[in-house]
Amino acid sequence: MPRIIIQNLENFTIDSENTDRKVIELIHENGIDWMHACGKKGRCTTCKMIILEGQENLSPETDRELFYRNQNRLKPDERLCCQANLLKNTLTIKVAEINKFPHLKYSD
Ligand code: FES
Repeated sequence: MPRIIIQNLENFTIDSENTDRKVIELIHENGIDWMHACGKKGRCTTCKMIILEGQENLSPETDRELFYRNQNRLKPDERLCCQANLLKNTLTIKVAEINKFPHLKYSD
């Protein structure tokens, strides 16, 4: 079963059979606040996740991600939560420092 672990939210874990949902949708549906300034349209990068493990388990990069990658606004270990689906196995991620909310308590 696909599993998302958010390391710096005390390893909050999301299990889902739903491979047709974007990573950000699974995060939001599980009650975690995650930045998404453009409304999940691939136009801002505030939803980026830093991938610690399992990048190979994600869907291929979208045109929007390639656009930002070509501008060096996405590093090799970063993807946009609003663009990527988790297709299998486990994905371990963390929230980027710049995208942390003041009202949430992070464990790093
Ligand atoms: S929410 Fe803006 S790029 Fe994902």
